[in-house]
Amino acid sequence: MNDLAQELNSILEATVAGRLLSDLGRRLYFPKGIIAQSVEAKKNAHMANATIGMAYQNDSLMILSALQQPLAALSPEAIVAYAPTAGLEKTRQLWQKLLTEKNPSLDPNRISLPVLVPGLTAGISYCADLFFDPCSSLCISQPCWDNYELIFEQRRGASLVKIPFFEAGDGLDFAGIEKALQTRAQKEPLRLMLNFPHNPSGYTLTRSEAEQLIVLLKAIADAGSDVLVLCDDSYFGLFYEPDCMQESLFSQLSSLHDRILAIKIDGPTKEDFAWGLRLGFVTFGSKSLEPAHYDALIKKLMGAIRSSVSCANTPAQSLLLHCAADPRTPLEKAQYYAVLKSRYHFIKHFIDSNPPHPRLKALPFNSGYFMTFRCMGINAELLRQELLDRHGVGTIAFGSDYLRVAFSSVDQEHLEHLYRLIYETAAVL
Ligand SMILES: Cc1ncc(COP(=O)(O)O)c(C=O)c1O
Repeated sequence: MNDLAQELNSILEATVAGRLLSDLGRRLYFPKGIIAQSVEAKKNAHMANATIGMAYQNDSLMILSALQQPLAALSPEAIVAYAPTAGLEKTRQLWQKLLTEKNPSLDPNRISLPVLVPGLTAGISYCADLFFDPCSSLCISQPCWDNYELIFEQRRGASLVKIPFFEAGDGLDFAGIEKALQTRAQKEPLRLMLNFPHNPSGYTLTRSEAEQLIVLLKAIADAGSDVLVLCDDSYFGLFYEPDCMQESLFSQLSSLHDRILAIKIDGPTKEDFAWGLRLGFVTFGSKSLEPAHYDALIKKLMGAIRSSVSCANTPAQSLLLHCAADPRTPLEKAQYYAVLKSRYHFIKHFIDSNPPHPRLKALPFNSGYFMTFRCMGINAELLRQELLDRHGVGTIAFGSDYLRVAFSSVDQEHLEHLYRLIYETAAVL
């Protein structure tokens, strides 16, 4: 059991609450991960707070005008009526239409209608409910978003098989990934999480890497394994280099092989700068599934929703429709994208134009909200604390080896100073 869970259990041990806890209740804890480190940074990061997976400009959150203004313009139904368990039909249809526009090779007739859930976290957790038992394992990148551990390991009792994705230097360590997936597929059905653009590295696989991965997954399915691929596309669309794979792998996976089930988990949280709206979508796709199968899967997912939050909130679903219909939205999204892309190029330039740092090496990055340094010979958590306490700089330590910098939340004019501080502090620690 996790140390933090044990610590909480021992505090509660002699109490009535401790005696009544369920197995799951005993396994749960609040990680000292991204959220806890962000709370610390909020207090002390007076120079720059590069912890948060939100996007800021001039100290204000990026927000689309269509989201800020309209509550008064919405009907009572659009605000307070219960939404159906799987979400408002119109909002689901809208997301399906957007999915096919953003992923031109996706065949809309071969996938399910997206099911609306209260945020991507909820979508991932429902997929864990449907497809993971205590004996199941999930192959996942190392490093990865810290919440996967709580969802799959603590909540479902499944195990994470962490595969070092970035050992090769410039891109994915494809040989390492291939070996790990082949080995796992010989033992049990292969379950794989793909998250591009990636949190924390900020990497999206290139088109040729995407092709290699597709060929590998097809070969594994051809050899007789069932394959589940979860595509966590939280940061979809924020690609900054021309060779980034600009379509979700879900497009190809959803029609690749009878033995492959792909599930796309996405939503407006990061793509549309709408973190607090708490909207996400879960879409199923497999070559072998017909409409009746999708109906059955959707009913199962609705069971998970009904038995947890009952349904997602209605005004957020209405706002998404409103936002999509507002002519200002595409231009504003393009402007925010340009701001993030310009910050990305600035950081690339900083790293390329400075001599290699003896203790920090950037993981490959080309997309999304973040970049991450691998720490060599220094502890990332100590570096994080030093940056926060001495310089008022908030960053996130992923264990002892990685330091994540969220450039989404730092204005470009502060980046030079921020990166100088990180370089100098790491050099003398
Ligand atoms: C990789 C990844 N997946 C899922 C999420 C969760 O998104 P949401 O806020 O919609 O639950 C995040 C948020 O930081 C993330 O980074």
